Amino acid sequence: MATPAEHPQPKPAAEDEESRKLSVTAADAQSFAEGVLRGNGAPPEHARTVAECLVAADLRGVDTHGVNRLPSYMARVRAGVLDPAASPTLTQVTPAAAQVDGRNTFGAVAGAAAVRAAVDMAQVYGIGMVSVKHSNHFGMSAWLVQKALDEGMMSLVFTNSSPALPAWGARTKLLGVSPIACGAPGADDESPFILDMAPSIAARGKVYKAKRRGEKIPMDWALDAEGRPTDDPAAALEGVMLPMGGPKGSALSIMMDVFSGVFSGSAFAGHVANPYDPSRPADAGHFIVAIKPDLFLPLADFRERMRYLYDRVVHESEPAAGVDRVYFPGEIEQRTERARRREGIPYVAAEVAALNEEARRVGTEEVRVMPAKGSGQEAAAAQ
Ligand SMILES: NC(=O)c1ccc[n+]([C@@H]2O[C@H](COP(=O)([O-])OP(=O)(O)OC[C@H]3O[C@@H](n4cnc5c(N)ncnc54)[C@H](O)[C@@H]3O)[C@@H](O)[C@H]2O)c1
Repeated sequence: MATPAEHPQPKPAAEDEESRKLSVTAADAQSFAEGVLRGNGAPPEHARTVAECLVAADLRGVDTHGVNRLPSYMARVRAGVLDPAASPTLTQVTPAAAQVDGRNTFGAVAGAAAVRAAVDMAQVYGIGMVSVKHSNHFGMSAWLVQKALDEGMMSLVFTNSSPALPAWGARTKLLGVSPIACGAPGADDESPFILDMAPSIAARGKVYKAKRRGEKIPMDWALDAEGRPTDDPAAALEGVMLPMGGPKGSALSIMMDVFSGVFSGSAFAGHVANPYDPSRPADAGHFIVAIKPDLFLPLADFRERMRYLYDRVVHESEPAAGVDRVYFPGEIEQRTERARRREGIPYVAAEVAALNEEARRVGTEEVRVMPAKGSGQEAAAAQ
């Protein structure tokens, strides 16, 4: 299979200039996103929550699910298919099970309400399970996993999503690129276990990002509308993403649909609307479980066992040929976050322009870009 390196794409000078990265601090990205959200009718609390979720993705290097999602989210608000001001409702079904009705507000708001409820139940009963219906795209699942970790909890975070993958053996889009996420506290707060993965070879957001940036994609990510491998992101979006591990990836996507869609009363079986389709409500479903890590062993033992597992995986595994270091799930993203908190979040100029267009529409502040290194403005900006 050809790799992207085998398809060098020479770019004209103007395009190179266009793809120059502009850095923005997390605080400025947060206040910019909150401003746009409030300008589109989100109450301050919802605006803060959604902005936090998007900025968290940018900080972790999950650029596909960061503030660049704002234009598509706002298009849905303007089209009246997402209610920016609705408050999710909570129905307690058993002492350890509750249902959240997202009432078609932002997925991050419904998801955060679900994690809060699951954690509250787990603190009392050891486990809390929340099913979420009538929600929207909630962005990067790891943000919800981290919310549970901040409360010392293990978690499962599932969602379904719009059709992008075929069932194994088929060529029609039916299943979502629905991420499976879970987390557990580590030996210390610096080394938790965070798995957050789409069941496709690549998340579809990576194809949207490549299209936005004028880049090619690897040939093994997707098929075009005729079922042929393609490196053109636009053609890939007309076709299907490919599941990871063949039938196993397709089965994991069906699992997300059973737990998040069938179980909740939300849309399923290919009926969740695409987040870039502003013609109808998404009706996405989620499934969240919080678990107390010291249910069966004292917390100190749990943490010590996590330390042992981490050491066995990271320090005692012999790296394969060509591999510098073995990482724990979530560790690469944590390192990226530490670097981006110091150095800012890099955006492509065209992305900043699209974000500023959103600010102009509602008369809020544009993105504040950090002075370029060596521009002489850094000292002034620091004062
Ligand atoms: N809300 C939605 O509907 C939706 C849909 C699709 C994707 N997403 C989000 O898109 C994001 C991207 O998903 P993805 O599948 O492309 O992620 P990915 O392939 O970058 O990472 C998947 C997992 O593998 C781990 N990992 C990656 N490289 C590793 C290495 N070298 N060593 C050890 N562990 C490693 C990561 O920490 C992560 O837990 C996720 O945050 C997901 O939540 C959201």
